[in-house]
Amino acid sequence: MLSQYLYISTAPSLSREEVDSILASSARNNPARGVTGLLLYNGRNFLQLLEGGEAELVDLMVRITHDPRHTGVSMLEHRKVEQRACSDWAMKRIMISESVENRREALDTDLPENLDTQIRKIIMNFAVLN
Ligand SMILES: Cc1cc2nc3c(=O)[nH]c(=O)nc-3n(C[C@H](O)[C@H](O)[C@H](O)COP(=O)(O)O)c2cc1C
Repeated sequence: MLSQYLYISTAPSLSREEVDSILASSARNNPARGVTGLLLYNGRNFLQLLEGGEAELVDLMVRITHDPRHTGVSMLEHRKVEQRACSDWAMKRIMISESVENRREALDTDLPENLDTQIRKIIMNFAVLN
């Protein structure tokens, strides 16, 4: 049985390089631990979906929660799932389009198809807030 975690956190004005370095850590560590997911950053907050075995995710969440690059990690969803939504992605960066009008459309293309409806809704709402 797999788990999915969805959380938000606060990290005002991280540089592109700082976010890239988080993605580099994810690419380095997640495959060996069977962790997949996606990460959005809107310049103020992160929203991350993590999926994998419960034990691996608990370990990773402890590390992530103590990471000084963000604060206020707040869990939105924790659920058991039969299948991954992000099986191809060690950690996919979902870009938030500059133009608010294009955001929903761009996300519809970028988000995985078999994402739970509730999780998709939360991600959509997060991305249009700005
Ligand atoms: C928003 C956010 C998301 C993160 N996601 C991951 C992740 O999916 N996998 C991971 O290994 N580290 C992630 N990290 C980084 C960890 O907190 C930690 O710095 C890293 O795992 C340390 O491993 P390293 O020494 O290989 O870089 C994330 C950090 C932040 C701030």
